[in-house]
Amino acid sequence: MSFVPYDCPVRAAFVGLGRIYDLNVRAYVDNPDVEVVALVDPDEERRAQRQADWPEARTFASVADMAASSVEVDAVEALLPIPLHVDGVVELLGHGWHVNLQKPMCNDLAGASRMLEAARSNDRQFRVMENYIFYQPLVRLKQIVESGDIGDVSGYHMKMVGSGLGGWEVPASSYRWQFMQIRNGRGILVFDDGWHKLATALWLFGPIREVRAWVGATEVFPDVNIDAPTTLAWEHENGVRGVWDITLAPDMYLRSDYYTNDERWEVTGRKGYARVNRCTGRGVQQPSLEVYADGEMRAFHALDDDWASSFRDSGRHWLRWLHSGEGQLLWSGEAAVAVLRFALAAYASSAAGGVGVDPATIE
Ligand SMILES: NC(=O)c1ccc[n+]([C@@H]2O[C@H](COP(=O)([O-])OP(=O)(O)OC[C@H]3O[C@@H](n4cnc5c(N)ncnc54)[C@H](O)[C@@H]3O)[C@@H](O)[C@H]2O)c1
Repeated sequence: MSFVPYDCPVRAAFVGLGRIYDLNVRAYVDNPDVEVVALVDPDEERRAQRQADWPEARTFASVADMAASSVEVDAVEALLPIPLHVDGVVELLGHGWHVNLQKPMCNDLAGASRMLEAARSNDRQFRVMENYIFYQPLVRLKQIVESGDIGDVSGYHMKMVGSGLGGWEVPASSYRWQFMQIRNGRGILVFDDGWHKLATALWLFGPIREVRAWVGATEVFPDVNIDAPTTLAWEHENGVRGVWDITLAPDMYLRSDYYTNDERWEVTGRKGYARVNRCTGRGVQQPSLEVYADGEMRAFHALDDDWASSFRDSGRHWLRWLHSGEGQLLWSGEAAVAVLRFALAAYASSAAGGVGVDPATIE
């Protein structure tokens, strides 16, 4: 690719102005790397609501309308419903705009190939946004693990509980798209929110050679199944093993400013452990990161552990990179394909009764 950084602020458009805009927008506020020039959403109310944030920006009901206008756009923050990701990204890249897409990338490898090919043929940058790898407690966890403070890694565990009560309001429209995903075998816990857990596993310990999974289902409304209880276990190419358990607590209230997701990451080393106690919600209200080694517990009290800050920092990283070209861009479309393969290997394993599946063999 022949990417040349911009020598002026990046001219950006938001495409999709729904729930998650509220967090993605944090990267754009008071950021000299970017100028927001356009807002796109078929929903008139959303356009009017978000226009208040960016009075100078033009608003459009569709990408085609924006493309036909005189507005000059360099990059798009694509916050589209998941089933629209593939066609949407191909269209955006085709107009010659760089794209920062929300996760999950898409449902299958054929869709992923179409997106990557569109990026190549249009010579544009395509990034799949991963905010968890910018969440400060997880960033510190990775540093501690790599520092050797807890010794060589023996294994790790992730836990996720989907709770039914608390958190912010999720519009009915978001659920409609999620239900479509569920019907297509891409559940909200394993595939949608779970995308982040799979991404953090790859980010922490690298490529995976074998996955074993047991994906369950719990009916929450007639004909609507949530993909829990589910257990995944895997081995990285470096020999480290991981386990992730997903459970559903539909009647549990969880204090959260965002989604009601209770999460933990715990890495065990030969001489200690490091644990991130929470992320999206405020389940365990101890310091968000604790490290035990040599008979002593260290607790991190001053980390920026507001989940929303990870969106701010992930988006700022992208915009800084576009503007300055400095450093390595986290993460590329190719890195997202590894996450997709990990998820697809888990589904293949579960369908075959929990046998080991190498993500590289998924077609
Ligand atoms: N990183 C995270 O933790 C996280 C959290 C939640 C959602 N997400 C992702 O963000 C994306 C959006 O989710 P959401 O919760 O904001 O959904 P949402 O349903 O609240 O918003 C989607 C918006 O897209 C608009 N839209 C529909 N078709 C469009 C089109 N053709 N062109 C432009 N806009 C269109 C809708 O009108 C709506 O306003 C999804 O990919 C989702 O997986 C990520």
